[in-house]
Amino acid sequence: MSFEKEIQKRRTFGIISHPDAGKTTLTEKLLLFGGAIQEAGAVKNNKIKKSATSDFMEIERQRGISVATSVLAFIYKDKKINILDTPGHKDFAEDTFRTLTAVDSVIVVIDVAKGVEEQTEKLVEVCRMRKIPIIVFINKLDREGKDAFDLLDEVEQKLGLSVTPLSFPIGMGYDFKGIYNIYEKNINLFSGDSKKNIEETIAFDDVQSPELETVIGEKAATTLRDDLELVNGVYPKFSKEKYLASEQQPVFFGSALNNFGVRELLDCFIEIAPSPRPKRAEEREVVANEKDFTGFVFKIHANMDPKHRDRLAFIKIVSGTFERNKPYLHVRNNKKLKFSSPNAFFAEKKEIVDISYPGDIVGLHDTGHFKIGDTLTEGEELHYKGIPSFSPEHFRYINNGDPMKAKPLYKGIDQLMDEGVAQLFTLELNGRKIIGTVGALQFEVIQYRLEHEYGAKCTYENFPVFKACWVDPDDKNNDEFKEFKRVKQKFLAKDKQGQLVFLADSQFSLQMTQQKYPSVKLHFTSEFE
Ligand code: G4P
Repeated sequence: MSFEKEIQKRRTFGIISHPDAGKTTLTEKLLLFGGAIQEAGAVKNNKIKKSATSDFMEIERQRGISVATSVLAFIYKDKKINILDTPGHKDFAEDTFRTLTAVDSVIVVIDVAKGVEEQTEKLVEVCRMRKIPIIVFINKLDREGKDAFDLLDEVEQKLGLSVTPLSFPIGMGYDFKGIYNIYEKNINLFSGDSKKNIEETIAFDDVQSPELETVIGEKAATTLRDDLELVNGVYPKFSKEKYLASEQQPVFFGSALNNFGVRELLDCFIEIAPSPRPKRAEEREVVANEKDFTGFVFKIHANMDPKHRDRLAFIKIVSGTFERNKPYLHVRNNKKLKFSSPNAFFAEKKEIVDISYPGDIVGLHDTGHFKIGDTLTEGEELHYKGIPSFSPEHFRYINNGDPMKAKPLYKGIDQLMDEGVAQLFTLELNGRKIIGTVGALQFEVIQYRLEHEYGAKCTYENFPVFKACWVDPDDKNNDEFKEFKRVKQKFLAKDKQGQLVFLADSQFSLQMTQQKYPSVKLHFTSEFE
């Protein structure tokens, strides 16, 4: 197959949702369609299997949280689908944010009863900022939930999207009869049988036809006609261009658990979702069909196998082909590296591959060379943008718990920060180290991993900080910035990249600081224009 065709057939995306909306269930049903797994339950089983073989994963198993962001690939109707799984738990939101830099589109799953939840809002905001095309899947229609129109309003308002339904439910919960597929112009009747691979569809070009009554009954037919009239009147026509430009978001309804509405979603997805999109590097924009390989690290996974204490760096291929045993330039280190056993992912398995294409993810065994955000090329000095750090929510001093083990402690902290487990700040005043995390859970993870992987002990001490703000002065030499640095000395730190950070101890002090030093811009992310 030609290089161009390989690119066109790839769809790399992420499924995002608030925990419990049905992301895992939907992922699993999508894999079933691809024939990648044989039975329901495989995805969840897989998670548990993985956690049992790894110390670190033991923590998450005990807590019932899936920390692992893995890649699941399968072929469906000639398309190579790469699903990048994203942890839903809010303590691991950073991980999900980073994974979003490697997807070309997303599917957002929303629970019909709970509507738009907190975690969904945060994740969709990041997608909107990056102009990632979004499809919305409203799940659990077999349960009683919110009115479909109210929910569409809620999605528009809370998520800031411009939706257009491509399917519409007929009833809900106990009365759930099925779905009218606006995109394909047919009706799927709900049987509640999760074992069915594909539901029967009845072509229905014209819902005005009296046959509708015989299929779904008089009352449901009238309601559906009214609903569709309203849909036509209120929502714009679906436009693929607008969807790709992130200006319009199609919505599907269904029930992942019952495998209902999933085929429609997938069929539409492979037709409209983008193949690998161009990506911005600091130097230029790179398009997928460029001959030379380029890619970047978006995730580092530690200790998948405790017998081999190495790490797996996940690389998204942006352009060209990635080949086994070919030397590539690690731009940050200015070193050529060869990889003898790059892993590709297929369903829940990984296997060694000789060649991978744009959109694919390869896992490279790493003994400490990689950091999140690193770029690999065939020789070009290129730095991919867009893996910023976000301000953590929790901050603590980290102290050495065993004076004999200072070296392993600092090595451990260094490597864990490279993996993106948390962020390290060093106070300007006295050099003390502060760990910042998105969730409180990470402090335990760090302590556990330092002990088990590096033989080091750490203790924490509270450090009351509200937000870390990256400092961006209009003029580094003006008096205002000099005064800011003098007055706020106690609250200034450097992040791992050496960028100056202001640690505001309260919302109030942040506001006061902004008012007092207007020429010193304060940002909640490490990357700004
Ligand atoms: P997540 O990955 O987004 O966290 O959600 P997950 O798929 O694990 O689903 C959360 C719960 O919602 C699960 O129930 C799952 O079976 C259920 N669920 C998913 N889709 C549907 C649906 O279409 N209809 C209904 N009624 N339920 C659905 P659980 O009891 O928490 O887990 P389990 O015991 O079923 O594994």
